[in-house]
Amino acid sequence: MCGIVGFTGRHEAAPILLEGLSKLEYRGYDSAGIAVRKGDTPVRIVKAKGRLKGLYEKTDSGKAMEGTCGIGHTRWATHGEPSENNAHPHCSDDMNVVAVHNGIIENYQELRDKLSRKGYTFYSQTDTEIVTKLVDYYYKKYNIGPIDAIAKTMVRVRGSYALAIMFKDYPGHIWVARKDSPMVIGVTDGECYVASDVPAMLSYTRNVYYIDNLEMADLGNGEVHFYNLDGDEVKKELTEITWDAEAAEKGGFEHFMMKEIHEQPKAIRDTFNSVVKDGRIDLSSVGLTDDIIKDISQVIIVACGSAYHTGMVDQYVMEEFARIPVRVELASEFRYRNPILNPNDLVVIVSQSGETADSLAALREAKAQGIRTLGIVNVVGSSIAREADNVFYTLAGPEIAVATTKAYSTQLICGYLLALQFAYVRGTMDEERYLSLIAEVASIPEKIEKIIEDKERLQFIAARLANSQDVFFIGRGIDYAISMEGSLKMKEISYIHSEAYAAGELKHGTISLIEDGTIVISVATQDDLYEKTKSNMVEVKSRGAFIVGITHYGNFEIENTANYSIYVPKLDTHFMASLAVVPLQLLGYYVSIGRGLDVDKPRNLAKSVTVE
Ligand code: AGP
Ligand code: GLU
Repeated sequence: MCGIVGFTGRHEAAPILLEGLSKLEYRGYDSAGIAVRKGDTPVRIVKAKGRLKGLYEKTDSGKAMEGTCGIGHTRWATHGEPSENNAHPHCSDDMNVVAVHNGIIENYQELRDKLSRKGYTFYSQTDTEIVTKLVDYYYKKYNIGPIDAIAKTMVRVRGSYALAIMFKDYPGHIWVARKDSPMVIGVTDGECYVASDVPAMLSYTRNVYYIDNLEMADLGNGEVHFYNLDGDEVKKELTEITWDAEAAEKGGFEHFMMKEIHEQPKAIRDTFNSVVKDGRIDLSSVGLTDDIIKDISQVIIVACGSAYHTGMVDQYVMEEFARIPVRVELASEFRYRNPILNPNDLVVIVSQSGETADSLAALREAKAQGIRTLGIVNVVGSSIAREADNVFYTLAGPEIAVATTKAYSTQLICGYLLALQFAYVRGTMDEERYLSLIAEVASIPEKIEKIIEDKERLQFIAARLANSQDVFFIGRGIDYAISMEGSLKMKEISYIHSEAYAAGELKHGTISLIEDGTIVISVATQDDLYEKTKSNMVEVKSRGAFIVGITHYGNFEIENTANYSIYVPKLDTHFMASLAVVPLQLLGYYVSIGRGLDVDKPRNLAKSVTVE
């Protein structure tokens, strides 16, 4: 989580660092800090608790900190409460080493004890202060240069890290190291940048290097040199970022989330067009040939949060179309339960960021067992994209709001197209149906546009929801999967307690929570299950629930049971998640706004969960 930045060049560093941090604030926002150095004068560190605004004020928007080399951090606390003291950068007592860190050092206690015995004192509760002092310890003990001191530290620590470090003896240089936490490096016009994510440097350069796991780099004098753990120099290719800076700006919307909801039709079209040519699916860019598809005996989809919810939809769709067994698993569970995998299984990891620690670990577990892995990933060059055997990119562009919308929608599209191709290639779907269902998927963007045009209508029900304590989402089949996502959207940004239940499960316990006025949102888009879900709606209504029904146009019968109805356009039932989720995203948004909350940066959350 958290964002790190660094800059060394001719320009003043502080404003560049602050601007970079503002682009990364979505990654963590409980405190922030920067360290800047002018020539070979001592490094100056300024930190502030809370949002970045505090740091802007304390540094007079960076003007109060002179110097052309510096590092910065916006924190999502893992070790130690959010406070100025625990904020990064951290340093050794004599300021020999100053560092920022994204990740977790797992053996921090043991290292702290060791360093305490060597005379080090600790002033914060962070694992970062320990790793900073460990670098200082090796640097001084062996009188070795930065690269060797960092390499020794990397061998000694367990956990994950993206580190940016300044050494007193090397003015104008920043050293970086990475393991399992993201980091990109940019170089342009004799100046160097480092950041956790591309948007932080996009207004300066679109030429970036991706530093690999267990590698280090030295940035200075407009050059970057990469090293492996042995200290040998490694050559790297520059990658050009093709999307532009505006893609990561709000573009006239008040919040990123609303902008990203509006971007869904385009994101879906782009993703669809990347693999559909002349109305047929071609997965050659993904690297899945017909022979590979025919050989697969089982699909296991592994992901976290909303990405996991798209896996739930995929399970219904793929099993139905391709008649292949599909399992969906939470990455945090999968990775630790010694999963039984068969040689012909395909493990699909779904992740917007491509950096989610549990999803990455699940990918590695599958690879370690020699199983083919496919990543459905949004961030190009991310760890999952680089390590998976095959990658199906969602072309959603940068997603900034913590609550995912457009990435979720594009992940669904990848799932549908995979299901259709598997069905066609494996002979469970004839050509005519295959082609007509592809055309049906192609119609989704236009239908979402219609839902978005009608968004104001939802404000009425959002106002009622904003005052409720609990909300229940129910549905069957794909509608259950959509309910899971609707419930997550609601709770993560509005802080209202919400639960999603398979409608048929209600009477096994949950129905006892229903009382007069409890809001139950019933997703009922699946025609073959409609009568069953309706019975469950009647059951909760009889116990006083206020029912919001979501279905497709034409099914006006729902008004006999629901107190309030929301309609979306008609579409083949297998793909209804793509439409029904949009009003649920909008409801989450409006309720959050109605409660005066920070939609884009909900409390306690971060966009990219790079810690387990
Ligand atoms: C969704 O709104 C959440 N913020 C979260 O559940 C997210 O989907 C999850 O953390 C997975 O992230 P990833 O797609 O980047 O792996
Ligand atoms: N573990 C570090 C801390 O608690 C860094 C956390 C992060 O990556 O956000 O300060």
